[in-house]
Amino acid sequence: MTTAAPTARTPTRTLLVDAIRPLSDVDAWNRLLAWINPLWSANEIRARVVRRTEESADTLSLWLRPNRHWRGHRAGQHVVLGVEIDGVLCRRVFSLSNSPRSGELLRLTIQRQAGGGVTDWLHRHARVGLIVGLSAADGDFVLPDPAPQRLLLIAGGSGITPMMAMLQQLADQAFAGEIFLLQLCRRTDQRLFAGELADLAQRLPGLSVHVHASAGSGRLAAERIPELVPDPASFHTMLCGPESLMNDVATLWAGLGLAAQLDMERFAAPRPPSLPGPEKTIQAAESEHMFTQFPGLTLLEAAEAAGLKPSFGCRAGLCRTCLCLKRSGTTRNLLTGLSSTRPDEWIQLCVSVAESDLELSL
Ligand code: FES
Repeated sequence: MTTAAPTARTPTRTLLVDAIRPLSDVDAWNRLLAWINPLWSANEIRARVVRRTEESADTLSLWLRPNRHWRGHRAGQHVVLGVEIDGVLCRRVFSLSNSPRSGELLRLTIQRQAGGGVTDWLHRHARVGLIVGLSAADGDFVLPDPAPQRLLLIAGGSGITPMMAMLQQLADQAFAGEIFLLQLCRRTDQRLFAGELADLAQRLPGLSVHVHASAGSGRLAAERIPELVPDPASFHTMLCGPESLMNDVATLWAGLGLAAQLDMERFAAPRPPSLPGPEKTIQAAESEHMFTQFPGLTLLEAAEAAGLKPSFGCRAGLCRTCLCLKRSGTTRNLLTGLSSTRPDEWIQLCVSVAESDLELSL
């Protein structure tokens, strides 16, 4: 994972010390290169903001030109963006919202989240010229290859962002099949990409868009989707949006026997059970801390509550920034439901809970 923030402000004294380090010290090289040009790096992906577009009152798009380490993406994939905020490297996962045409700019569409954090900082500070760190593109929320002839895209709120990349890719491929886009938003003035979707409809003759604004029409119950999209069994469905929408549609599709025709992208991990149960003791071997995992907390949250500062990015099991070696004990992954029982296995702290006392390399 390469999401280091650029270090153009590295003091000259540090750079002089770096200059006498071995040639194999990649971190020193990166500091030196970033001092010369913040976009340069020996091995890290960095990108410069070259355009900023306001998509709605609380959503903007940043257009990025990556350095030579960028290896491209598939429509629907995400990246981890890293920026330095008050001296701390902060990371956050975003879907790429444009198609992977080689040599073109990357677009990240960012909705401002309540409570500050990276999205709020980007809304206030991301201007043309800002350099950010990026991970390689990742994720398997991508269209089947070849694309099915009937596609149903269900997008709630900012869940439209990976769908935009997919639609652009389909338009680039002159896709001749049928696409039904169900776009859900709170109010019509919060709807994203209305103009761009109208343009795409010119290039995709099989595209039809249905917009549902809950402020005017009430929340759309998942059970009503088959009324809007007759014969959902004949479609392959791609779904991205708020957790409640994802759960409702997944349950409905499973009940209709269509689970195998559904692909989903989750940006929030399932919450751990909060039922009272025996507390687990966690030994953090590196920091020589001992803490307790209470019900309802992930291991990441439990470690933070104990004053530790493990690295994290998405907090949803996507970016692997929080990988940690479990030396002993049993954990359960909330995404897969699988238990890790063997010693010396890597676990993701943000989506793991302890099932026994543990020793972690933390
Ligand atoms: S923080 Fe991204 S996988 Fe855990």
